[in-house]
Amino acid sequence: MASYEEKLQQEAELWGSVDEANAATVPPDWRAHRHLRHNVISHTRDIDALLAQIQPGMKTLELGCASGWLTLAMAQRGADATGLDISEKSLQIARDYYEKVATETEGTTTYQRADLNRIELAPNSYDVIVTKGTLHHLVEMEHVIEQIYQALKPGGLFWINDSVGNSTLLTSLFAGGLMFILPTTVSYREKLGGLLKFGMRAPQRIRASMEAEGLSPFEGAGREHDWLKLVQERFIIEHQTRKPAVTGYLAHQISLPDAIALPLLRVIKVIDVALVKLRVLHSTSLVVYARKPV
Ligand SMILES: C[S@@+](CC[C@H](N)C(=O)[O-])C[C@H]1O[C@@H](n2cnc3c(N)ncnc32)[C@H](O)[C@@H]1O
Repeated sequence: MASYEEKLQQEAELWGSVDEANAATVPPDWRAHRHLRHNVISHTRDIDALLAQIQPGMKTLELGCASGWLTLAMAQRGADATGLDISEKSLQIARDYYEKVATETEGTTTYQRADLNRIELAPNSYDVIVTKGTLHHLVEMEHVIEQIYQALKPGGLFWINDSVGNSTLLTSLFAGGLMFILPTTVSYREKLGGLLKFGMRAPQRIRASMEAEGLSPFEGAGREHDWLKLVQERFIIEHQTRKPAVTGYLAHQISLPDAIALPLLRVIKVIDVALVKLRVLHSTSLVVYARKPV
């Protein structure tokens, strides 16, 4: 079995390659990323709402900053922004890009390599700490949340966009049904073959696929730790939104031009949101605004 250090190295390599491939087509800049299909469908409104809270001169920290686009977006709003990640390759992409846009950026960025499971942050240092898609990869959740709490200034904002818990079989079945009907990168022949091969186990297979973005050795590791409970214990929850259950996942899978995919995904999203509200589908994805008490 791989040691913790070996798994962390795999994690860094995995996300470094993902960011390298992405940066070859889209610069690591929110002004470009906001138009990507999965962002338009799932994230653009949330990220813009977060950025609206960033004021010039604020000190911000991003945990799991990858190629740095969100840290940079906060600097573009005038923040003194730091991004931490384990992938040196991703951080280098972030630094190289920042060099290109530094003169037109109101604030500053600093990108540093750190293992978030072992971070030691200076107390009362940040106005805002953000993390997106990263907490569920971490294993020392209690330590991480405590570090964030004490590193925020009183009244500081902790913004999280992440998944918590597991999706239900019904949710996987719904996603699987739509993926079966709609064109994806998998051919209809292969889909039919998969259905015949896995039979009654097909929903479990889809659930595994929904919960395992990429091949991260830590995928799901953090899911065992309920970050939401730890955040609720310490912070004042100002706002909490449960995202649609399957639309974000589908946005990555459907292989249709944006002109067709976007309207289709918007219709699916309306149905998805209604089914989540009716508790037919279970969404694991959350956006949380948590405030450190003054
Ligand atoms: C799913 S990606 C999300 C990236 C980015 N926040 C986004 O939403 O585009 C998870 C990120 O967390 C980083 N990461 C995972 N485990 C980490 C750890 N123990 N310490 C630091 N960074 C870690 C990975 O390198 C990767 O960049």
